[in-house]
Amino acid sequence: MNVIILSPGYPADMPEFTRGLAESGATVIGVGDQPPAALPELVRHHLSRYVEVRSLWDSTAVTSELRKALHGIEVDRIECLWEPGVMLAAELRQHFGVDGLGIEQAHRFRDKEAMKQALDAAGIRTPRHVAVTSVAECFDAVEKIGFPVILKPIDGAGSADTYRINNADELRDVLPRLRHVPSISVEEFVDGEEYTFDTITIGGEIAYFNIAKYRPRPLIARSNEWISPQVIALRDVDHPKLADGIAMGRAVIDVLDFDTGFTHMEWYRKSDGEVVFGEIGARPPGAHQVDQMKYACDFDVFRAWGNAITHGEIGLDIERRYNVATIYKRAKGVGRISRIEGADALQKRFGEHVVWNTLLTPGTPRRDWMKTLVSDGFIMLRHPNLEETIAMADAVGSELHLYAE
Ligand SMILES: Nc1ncnc2c1ncn2[C@@H]1O[C@H](COP(=O)(O)OP(=O)(O)OP(=O)(O)O)[C@@H](O)[C@H]1O
Ligand SMILES: [Mg+2]
Repeated sequence: MNVIILSPGYPADMPEFTRGLAESGATVIGVGDQPPAALPELVRHHLSRYVEVRSLWDSTAVTSELRKALHGIEVDRIECLWEPGVMLAAELRQHFGVDGLGIEQAHRFRDKEAMKQALDAAGIRTPRHVAVTSVAECFDAVEKIGFPVILKPIDGAGSADTYRINNADELRDVLPRLRHVPSISVEEFVDGEEYTFDTITIGGEIAYFNIAKYRPRPLIARSNEWISPQVIALRDVDHPKLADGIAMGRAVIDVLDFDTGFTHMEWYRKSDGEVVFGEIGARPPGAHQVDQMKYACDFDVFRAWGNAITHGEIGLDIERRYNVATIYKRAKGVGRISRIEGADALQKRFGEHVVWNTLLTPGTPRRDWMKTLVSDGFIMLRHPNLEETIAMADAVGSELHLYAE
C-alpha cells in the first residue's frame, strides 16, 4: 500500500506518525517543504521516498510537482495530521482519485461557520453564532446574541485573535485589533468546563477515543502568563458527567461524514449539565496530547493510527490504566532560563509517577508562551486515581518555578 504523508517532519509528533504508518506495513512517501537534510532521522528512516515541494500552500503547484515525482506510482491514501494541510490533502485526494475525506467534507472541518451550520441542521447544540465580515455586521450580531460573546477567526487555531467580550466598550476596543481577520465568528459565550473528544475513526466508525479535560479553559490559559495550564487525559470515560459529550462526539463524526483517521473535538459542559459543541479538527490534538494517550493506555497510538490507515483496524489491545496530566510551565522573567526551583522536592515526592519531563534547562532561551502551547517545557505524569493525578498536577503547577533572566 502506498501512502503519502504530508509534512512528515513537522510539527513535533509527525515523525512518530510516520514511523507508526511505516511499521503498519505501508510504503510511506513523504511530501513536504523541508529540505531532505532537515528531516528528523526518525522520518528519514521510515520514508521510502521524500518529495520536496517548493511550498505546501500552493495546491496547484504541489499537484503538478507531485504528479511529476510519482510518475505513475499508484497512491492508495493521502494523509495529513496537521491542521493547515487538511484542505491540501483533500484537494490532492480529489486530483489523484484517492479515497478519504473529500474537499466538501474537509471544508466543514476547517471553516467554523460551515461546521456549525452542518451541525445545527442535524440538531446538535452549538453556541449561537453569526459569521461577520464588517464592524456593522459585528454590532448587529452581538445585538442578536447578547453579551458576553466570543469573537474568533472563522479558521482560527491556537486561540489566536480570540476574545471574550462583555460589553459594548470592550467590543469597540477590540474591533481594531481584528482588522486583519477577514471573517469572524461571533458566538454566544458558553460558560463551563472544557473537554476534548479525540478519536481514531475507521470508515466512519469510532475505533478508539480519548477524553481530556483542560484546566483552566484554553482561552484563560492563553491570556494569563502566570498560569501553568494542564491537560488531563481521563481514565474513567464511563463517568456519567461525560456521557452526553461522548454522545455528541459520535453524532458530530457522523454528521460531518468523517472517514478514516484522527479527529480532535472540543466541547463544553455547563454547570447545569448541558453540553455544547466547541469545534472539531480532522487531525489529532497538538501539544503532545497524543503522547498522553500513549501513556494512559500503554499502547503505541501512532502505530494504532497507522494500522487504521493501512489495515482498516487498530489491531492492538487498549486498556485505560491511568489518568495522564501534562502541566505546561512558563518561566518568570525574560531571556534565558536561569534556575528551576522545586524540582528536586517534587521529584522525591512523586517522581515515580512522572513519565516525561521536557523542562528547558538553565542556559536555554525562553520560548514565546503566546506562540507555543508547550511553553518552557512540561511535566507529564500519571496515576490510576484521578484525585491523586490532579493533586500532583496542582503541586507541579504551584511549587515548580522556572526563572529566566
Ligand atoms: N463560544 C465560546 N464560549 C466560550 N468559550 C469559547 C467559545 N469559543 C471559544 N472559546 C474559548 O476560546 C478557545 C479557543 O477557541 P476555539 O477552540 O474555537 O479556537 P482555536 O483557536 O481553534 O483553538 P485551538 O487552541 O484548539 O486551536 C476555546 O478553547 C475556549 O476556551
Ligand atoms: Mg480549540
